[in-house]
Amino acid sequence: MIGVFDSGLGGLGIFRKIKLFLPYEDIVYYADNKNAPYGNKSEDKIKELTLNSLKLLEKKGCDIIVVACNTATTSGIDYYRKQIKAHIIGVVPVVKTAAQMTTKKRIAVLATKYTIQSRYLDDLIKKFAPKIKVKKIACEGWVKAIENNTVTDALLKKCLKNISNEDVVVLGCTHFTLIKGHIQRLLGPDAKVVSSNDAVARHVMRVGMKYRLLSNKPRKSKYIYLCSDNSKKYTDKIKQYV
Ligand code: DGL
Repeated sequence: MIGVFDSGLGGLGIFRKIKLFLPYEDIVYYADNKNAPYGNKSEDKIKELTLNSLKLLEKKGCDIIVVACNTATTSGIDYYRKQIKAHIIGVVPVVKTAAQMTTKKRIAVLATKYTIQSRYLDDLIKKFAPKIKVKKIACEGWVKAIENNTVTDALLKKCLKNISNEDVVVLGCTHFTLIKGHIQRLLGPDAKVVSSNDAVARHVMRVGMKYRLLSNKPRKSKYIYLCSDNSKKYTDKIKQYV
């Protein structure tokens, strides 16, 4: 079984892709909504919450677990791999792809405060975009607004107004992929808005095939939706996105 974890609704973009690419696999989605958002918390807190969530999914019988949260992944994916036996797949801002796509040698990364300030992101930039000008933008309040369905143009523009010469914009938070259309509309037709949802789902497929963890034959698959506050209200919200 495949597990997908995020602090809230953000990982559902990845969940949808996995469902599309691997239609015969059982998937459990777990949102730690009681503790969302993660992006403004300390590294220690994010690690503690993420590890608890991964343990829960492992207990449910997942042999592949997707950390569908950039914040959690950049806080220490190797640390989680050491603690959990299941195969752990993370998601990080697609700096490498953006660096290959830009014709202006300028890209922007939109993410949570934690991810923007993380050493992990700086290392990605050093490694994959050493000659590119990268504008890092911490999008305060976005995750909460997406969770509560209260996103407005004004809120998004507060951050998007900083983007002018960048032709590729990286969505470095899985929540932002849920409002990709909204962001694209405000940036206009020339901006290329990219995320890792597709690549992550392909990677799940790759790992599943390599370790023979997929059922891979026509069958009716099971989808389970769980959240840390155990409310039907929240699982109903999740179901609106799948
Ligand atoms: N969806 C998560 C990410 O990709 C973070 C959301 C949060 O701040 O909880 O970074």
